[in-house]
Amino acid sequence: MKTFQGRTAVITGAASGFGLEAARIAAREGMKVVMADVQQDALEKAVAEVRELGAQVVGFRLDVSNAAEVEALAETTMAAFGAPHFVFNNAGVGAGGLIWENTAKDWDWVVGVNLMGVAHGVRVFTPLMLAAAQADPGYEGHIVNTASMSGLQNAPNMGVYNATKHAVVAISETLYHDLALVTDQISCSVLCPFFVPTAINNSERNRPAGMRDEAAQPTRSQLIAQAMSDKAVGSGKVTAAQLMQQVFDAMRERRFYIYSHPHALASVQRRMEDVIQGRNPTDPFAGKPQISADLRAALRAAG
Ligand SMILES: NC(=O)c1ccc[n+]([C@@H]2O[C@H](COP(=O)([O-])OP(=O)(O)OC[C@H]3O[C@@H](n4cnc5c(N)ncnc54)[C@H](O)[C@@H]3O)[C@@H](O)[C@H]2O)c1
Repeated sequence: MKTFQGRTAVITGAASGFGLEAARIAAREGMKVVMADVQQDALEKAVAEVRELGAQVVGFRLDVSNAAEVEALAETTMAAFGAPHFVFNNAGVGAGGLIWENTAKDWDWVVGVNLMGVAHGVRVFTPLMLAAAQADPGYEGHIVNTASMSGLQNAPNMGVYNATKHAVVAISETLYHDLALVTDQISCSVLCPFFVPTAINNSERNRPAGMRDEAAQPTRSQLIAQAMSDKAVGSGKVTAAQLMQQVFDAMRERRFYIYSHPHALASVQRRMEDVIQGRNPTDPFAGKPQISADLRAALRAAG
């Protein structure tokens, strides 16, 4: 997509972190912005802030795991601004711990938001964009799905999250190929951040009551995962604003893979080589063996 001025962005997870930064940049680029999020109070504040930048903004509260609510988001977008040009399927949540310790509700919640949220966004918005492309040879569209470096490698003690983010990479690569079969006017990218300071390590704030295991206390592995995530996310050096600028650059350049920390791809390369050579999986923390040693010691100390 070569220009953003006067065009429309739809952003999920727009009340915080990457989504809010993307909305700010979209507004500065002269776009109309639909900001969607599950957290009403944060959304209202974010919408007011982005309006202050001079943009036309529609705020929409939804849970992206709910098919009908994503469909309603599309109807609201069409009524307000017509077919969107930039769709950012970005809302996501994190959950950690040893993979067998996650409850059925953990799986439902994280798969619902991270995987089905992206699936619904692609299912609902792509046909609207294709129709716009058919009606107007000057139309350009771009879909960006937020995965993670966890979509390209599998660090231990965060299996549910890893599973959903691999699925987002799979959806996005397939979408890229499928779009190329039918149009040159719409493309897509997958965003694979490493650790970037946002509120992602506090995802529990937006877990719906029906998805909570009220009686269950977090397990030791889950407490350790939370502490590691707090430390890693909190100490990230690349900012959300810098990364979102890269997202807009990638759309201009029609670049598919977007990375916050390209040097972290060394462990992805090792994983790919393991796969191709049929080697057993290398420890993703092989470059920083102390992390694995500490993790193993902490888990085994549980007895
Ligand atoms: N920050 C990182 O280090 C990092 C790394 C890799 C991937 N990611 C991914 O980036 C994306 C954005 O997260 P962030 O880091 O900006 O975190 P964040 O918590 O600051 O923002 C996420 C937003 O998504 C919203 N949200 C949560 N559940 C929702 C739902 N069911 N429906 C609609 N909105 C919902 C939250 O209210 C919040 O505003 C996520 O998909 C996350 O997995 C983040």
